[in-house]
Amino acid sequence: MYDQTIIVTGAQGNLGGVAMRVLQPIYATVVGTSHHPGADNLKPMDICDQKQVSDLFHRIRPHLVFNFAAISDVTVCEQYAERALATNYQGVCNLANVCRSHGTRLVHVSTDYVFDGERQEYSEDDEPNPLQVYGRTKWMSEIPVLENNGLVIRSSGVIGYAGKQDSKFMRKFINGGPQTMVNNQKKRFMFADDLVVAMTELAQKDCSGIYHVAGSKNLSWFEYASIIADVLEESVLSKIPDRPSLCLMSGVPQTHPTSGAVIQRPEHVSLKMEKAKAVLDNFLLTSPQDAARIMGEQIRRDYELF
Ligand SMILES: NC(=O)c1ccc[n+]([C@@H]2O[C@H](COP(=O)([O-])OP(=O)(O)OC[C@H]3O[C@@H](n4cnc5c(N)ncnc54)[C@H](OP(=O)(O)O)[C@@H]3O)[C@@H](O)[C@H]2O)c1
Repeated sequence: MYDQTIIVTGAQGNLGGVAMRVLQPIYATVVGTSHHPGADNLKPMDICDQKQVSDLFHRIRPHLVFNFAAISDVTVCEQYAERALATNYQGVCNLANVCRSHGTRLVHVSTDYVFDGERQEYSEDDEPNPLQVYGRTKWMSEIPVLENNGLVIRSSGVIGYAGKQDSKFMRKFINGGPQTMVNNQKKRFMFADDLVVAMTELAQKDCSGIYHVAGSKNLSWFEYASIIADVLEESVLSKIPDRPSLCLMSGVPQTHPTSGAVIQRPEHVSLKMEKAKAVLDNFLLTSPQDAARIMGEQIRRDYELF
């Protein structure tokens, strides 16, 4: 147990929700934040509002901040580019400024979307070349963190179960019925719990700069989803009352909601992880099958499927 106070931003999101579960037993005080007023057990804080950020830091005086707040939906970023820039870049500038004045360490997550996928394998020193608004704003988000000696962890296709509020990937399995997963992007999917453990160790070892932390196998969303479905459909998910059985379909790339143009994404990105592996004692690389089993147990408990 670390005798420290930490803030977890974006605690209602996918990764932030997993981080709350993983970090609460590890740190003395964990304060989760959300920009939705009245969110359960979370403190309100919009990272775009410098005063809100500053006020909360003043009250909590955190040693460490794990930032998971972002607009992470690639399509939403294309459609609302200004909002994406305000959140993904300006919001992080606000956090970095306040961290500097409080002497707080900032741990921030970035993404493989900063790369174009042309070279397939990328180390931390390779020059980014994002293809879309999300990647550009996330690349920009790294600047204020690095300028303040913070830690940037780039990851890839992070999958975890954050609880019933979980709105993204796992929601498709829980809802069942026909679900489309794209087959055109290959990446090193990472189990969210493993990522949070790695982030914690890097933070506790006072690492700063950029580290790549991702899974070991290159898969498409459809391939990854098929593994999860094979492990979970019969054993867990089919027991959720009134849920239609899952029918996974391999889909086409997403298009811009108004222009109809295909949103460019890196088709094949493998993050090289030698730098992180050299530092981490615990580089957990849970296989997709084991990740599915662990998430299955979490879903079973949450939905009382006994
Ligand atoms: N998931 C992945 O595969 C992956 C891979 C690599 C890196 N990352 C990075 O990991 C981080 C978390 O991703 P995620 O998948 O957990 O995304 P997520 O589920 O969309 O969570 C992001 C959270 O940030 C909140 N948020 C948005 N604007 C905010 C604001 N102005 N102030 C405070 N909170 C705000 C969102 O709330 P609302 O949704 O209610 O607006 C949401 O709860 C992001 O930085 C993402 O770029 C994710």
